[in-house]
Amino acid sequence: MKVAVFSSKSYDIEHLNQANEGRGLEFTFFEPHLTEQTAVLTKGYDAVCCFVNDVINQQVAAELASYDIKLIAMRCAGFNNVDLEACEKHNLLVARVPEYSPNAVAEHAVALILDLNRNIHRAFSRIRENDYSLSGLMGFDLNGKTVSIVGGGKIGQTMIRIMQGFGCRVLCYDPYPSDALKELGAEIVPLETVWAESDIISLHCPLVRSTYHIVNSNSLSQMKKGVMVINTSRGGLIDTPAIITALKSGKVGYLGLDVYEEEAELFFEDYSDQVLQDDVFARLTTFKNVVITGHQAFFTHEALQAIAEVTLSNIESFENNELDKMCLVKA
Ligand code: NAI
Repeated sequence: MKVAVFSSKSYDIEHLNQANEGRGLEFTFFEPHLTEQTAVLTKGYDAVCCFVNDVINQQVAAELASYDIKLIAMRCAGFNNVDLEACEKHNLLVARVPEYSPNAVAEHAVALILDLNRNIHRAFSRIRENDYSLSGLMGFDLNGKTVSIVGGGKIGQTMIRIMQGFGCRVLCYDPYPSDALKELGAEIVPLETVWAESDIISLHCPLVRSTYHIVNSNSLSQMKKGVMVINTSRGGLIDTPAIITALKSGKVGYLGLDVYEEEAELFFEDYSDQVLQDDVFARLTTFKNVVITGHQAFFTHEALQAIAEVTLSNIESFENNELDKMCLVKA
């Protein structure tokens, strides 16, 4: 089975090749994203393997189908960059890796919380400047604070357990709460309660129509002054200009991001010798109480191993016509 792998980085190549030892899939690794411009590269392959910033829209789906591609194996959990209806129309199966390491993402969200709260990023710079003053670095005890988790799936549940360990009061909003979620003992509350009562809000829901810009000027206006907002899920959950206004007024006291709505133009690449063109992103980087990482929450050794393993098992199950063993996504 010949698989065209897009958005390939050295760590993808290493982990996919490792998982493929003794298996015999034929990978070709392409560095660019899969887009309307690069879809032509898939000619002659049986499947494509994609990541978070590849674009599988109507045009790309039609082109893949015209080359007789039958499978899109996503090597990630989210699939908001895939037009599922177009794929269904063109008989393209879409598989994903639903859960590779909830710990990796939840622990990164906690790292952002701790860094922002205790100003670790500022302390790091000060020490390097021979500046040992403490003014401006004061944090707060997490113990007893109200932390809300929006989206109580695999990552949200891991987050709930960790924050309970800090002694926080943990709330969760999820329109489809599972039994596993209910058993954790977090208070399942409506969104209005999340906005009104939280000291920290961490987003762990998928980006779908109902969650697009779930953090907007209206929800921000309902939050406590000085709230901390953490987004390790998808950039489109936050209306960025609205949160910049809230940062300027002090309504938002801390912002931790691992994702950004326009990240496809920036993340995963080295542009250090170029001028940043995105003015909204540039403004975000000027705030001392904003910490941004470039979509690295998933990036642990354990997660990459699990991603490669499940991706290959999806492709093999497809090859063996064992569709029931695949993690398929439907429109
Ligand atoms: P999951 O599918 O286990 O959980 C998602 C939860 O969100 C479900 O419980 C679902 O009921 C809930 N949900 C659905 N609609 C909602 C709504 N309107 N409001 C609130 N909750 C809603 O997914 P998992 O594994 O926990 O991942 C969550 C998200 O994390 C993914 O969708 C992905 O966008 C993001 N992610 C980010 C990574 C990173 O490296 N930054 C890596 C992996 C995932």
